[in-house]
Amino acid sequence: MNADILFTNISQLVTPIGAGARGGKQQAELQITPNAAFAVQDGLIAWVGRQNDWTGTAREVKDLGGCAVVPGLIDPHTHAVWAGNRLADFEARASGMQYEEILRLGGGIRSSIRDTSAASLEQLVDLALPRLLALQSSGATTIEVKSGYGFSLEAELRCLEAIKILQSKLQAHLEPTLLIHVPPQNASERPAYLEMVCLELIPQAKPLVKAVDVFIEREAFNLLETRRILETAQNHGLAVKLHADQFHCVGGLELGVELGALSVDHLEVSGQPQIALIAKSQTIATILPGVTLHLGLPVAPARALLEAGAAVAIGTDLNPGSSPVFSSQMALALGVRLNRLTPAEALVACTVNAAAALGLPNRGRLEVGCVADALVLYSSNWLELAYLLGVNPVKTILIAGQEVL
Ligand code: NIG
Ligand code: FE
Repeated sequence: MNADILFTNISQLVTPIGAGARGGKQQAELQITPNAAFAVQDGLIAWVGRQNDWTGTAREVKDLGGCAVVPGLIDPHTHAVWAGNRLADFEARASGMQYEEILRLGGGIRSSIRDTSAASLEQLVDLALPRLLALQSSGATTIEVKSGYGFSLEAELRCLEAIKILQSKLQAHLEPTLLIHVPPQNASERPAYLEMVCLELIPQAKPLVKAVDVFIEREAFNLLETRRILETAQNHGLAVKLHADQFHCVGGLELGVELGALSVDHLEVSGQPQIALIAKSQTIATILPGVTLHLGLPVAPARALLEAGAAVAIGTDLNPGSSPVFSSQMALALGVRLNRLTPAEALVACTVNAAAALGLPNRGRLEVGCVADALVLYSSNWLELAYLLGVNPVKTILIAGQEVL
């Protein structure tokens, strides 16, 4: 076997095995290879195993100094494109005002929409780039990025255009999603907005995205509206996902399962009926512990989801209002603390299960044929990835076999 590069002297190479999501008991299964090495050819993993078993030749050999290696993290849920800030909301909430109340009164997401829709394409790119670089340096090698603070046809398309430009400036792989976030505040304008979304926005966004997401909630879209948007997306050949069960169960998870959504995200208030339903489906249950921490919401029931057999993914939900979390490693570490996942379950949540939530079969694991995205840790023990809070355990990031500088 010939390879471009062989990475050697790895104390532990830790990875989920096999394509596709891992649910239930299988979510805890990792393969840990001691004294490991792996070879990369054309950006893909060409060989992986115990270093002593390597018999090929490589054009370059890189000694990783006895450190642990894990797959690059996959952040399956971010809203990295926004302008303005939500510091006034933060202060108001600290004085006892509720997130939903702020939104109902025209603040919150709606204030981010005012600021974002007034920003130029160049400003949106300049604001989002350092956020995505922060996620990348925390270990995210694949990042989903939603629109959703544009609102109008033009501003939503501008956000998606910004994501396309951001991809040309960033080594991490970006997956753009069209998010239909909130309806007009004036109820009489809702039908016309829905027409615009279904007849103009989705068809025009189609070349720029793989999936459409809707926020279904009392203060956002209702079940009927959500169904219409998601069915339109599917009729255009797009995948669907939802923000559901964040404050109230209003049928979003059930709709997501019925439509075969890639994922249903949030789930802070999901109960036994919702848990049982998603566990029987192929839909990924994506939890967002940063929101629990920042808004003081209930903890998404990750243990009950796993006990029922669901596949759980973790995202940062990086956004200005409900989760100012700029680290995928931190999201993983919070999944252990707040949602009571084991470190192994949390690593699977942030790798193969997150990949499945984005419909990406050859990412999130260090196996032959997969994209060679990997993290070299400072430690020889991979558990530091889940342990440390507030310092970065990631020493080197490899994206398609290339070191990120
Ligand atoms: O995932 N829940 C709705 N959307 C975002 C929050 C957006 C915001 O507060 O700006 C979320 O939490
Ligand atoms: Fe979100």
